[in-house]
Amino acid sequence: MMPPERAAPPAADPAIDNWLDAGWSDRELRADVSVGLSSSPKELPPKWFYDDRGSELFDEITRLDEYYPTRREREILEREADAIAAAAGADCIAELGSGTSTKTRILLDAFAAAGQFRRYVPFDNSEATLRNAAGEVAAAYPDLAVQGVVGDFEHHLGHLPLDDADAPFGAPPRAPAMLVLLGGTIGNFSPARRPAFLDAVAGAMRTGDTFLLGTDLVKDVDRLVAAYDDAAGVTARFNLNVLSVLNRRLGADFDLDAFAHEAVFDADNEWIEMRLRSLRTQTVHIPALEMTVDFAAGERMRTEISAKFRPERVRSELGAAGLVVQRMWTDADGDYALTLARRVL
Ligand code: SAH
Ligand code: AVI
Repeated sequence: MMPPERAAPPAADPAIDNWLDAGWSDRELRADVSVGLSSSPKELPPKWFYDDRGSELFDEITRLDEYYPTRREREILEREADAIAAAAGADCIAELGSGTSTKTRILLDAFAAAGQFRRYVPFDNSEATLRNAAGEVAAAYPDLAVQGVVGDFEHHLGHLPLDDADAPFGAPPRAPAMLVLLGGTIGNFSPARRPAFLDAVAGAMRTGDTFLLGTDLVKDVDRLVAAYDDAAGVTARFNLNVLSVLNRRLGADFDLDAFAHEAVFDADNEWIEMRLRSLRTQTVHIPALEMTVDFAAGERMRTEISAKFRPERVRSELGAAGLVVQRMWTDADGDYALTLARRVL
């Protein structure tokens, strides 16, 4: 039985929860930078790429000829969105790392056409991007309740608003929800951290809910490297932008011209590794952390891994979190996979 009808929030004015107050985000950034730049080799987590400029640069990356994952995922969504809607039977989509929510509209259209669709919960740590995207979706889908969340999916999945906060006491259990993680973003977690993340995703779900996961697949090294080292240098600007984030938020004095972008495929780990290589011996000051950091000429700092998957690995990692694969779709060239898994217990 469907829960009673509830009014959607006014179009173009979606509700937004913000779980990233400035203090929390600053503490998190400081901890990540002080640990990462004291390690050997040095490392920065990829989540700090996405200030307003970083989100714009990522959007530009998605339109590059070399960057096939967005195109491939869109192709699969266009072909299979109706099948996904039928299999998920969900009245709510919650999207982690939703960004501009552009491809998601293919799903929103298919779910709306299938009837019973009521709520979209975009969730991202990039506030301006999230607010924009939520506003645009609310304006384009006036019958949909849009509940945006500014949050960190490594910390805040326990509060994901999948239940209808306005449901009266004694209302029937909610219809299934579908959680979504597109773009291959799961690949930006290290293999060591993926199990805890997938456990948290499964923990945010109820029995019968589904998880739609996009994963980039292992392929020819040259195509992989080109996707992360494009001729126009957009990915290089995206990579270097993390240094601007540290300059602005921590008062650091990174010279962006003194570092070079690198993208290499690590064949043992089956991941692309993005790094920033110091072009000379240099010392960087980070006043907010009372820290000075020395770089040797040629020293490499890792800024991102982007893991490439094989279908068996997707199945086994989801299975280990209690999520049973219902369907897996790939594009005609086998570049990319979309997997729908259900929490069965
Ligand atoms: N899903 C979109 C965007 C992928 S880019 C697509 O498929 O094109 C990755 C997105 O995840 C960005 O919007 C970034 O802001 C967000 N993100 C990265 N780390 C995050 C974190 N820890 N918590 C929440 N969002 C995060
Ligand atoms: C968001 N994420 C899946 C992208 C990726 O492909 O790993 C981020 C990115 N990094 C460089 N280009 C795109």
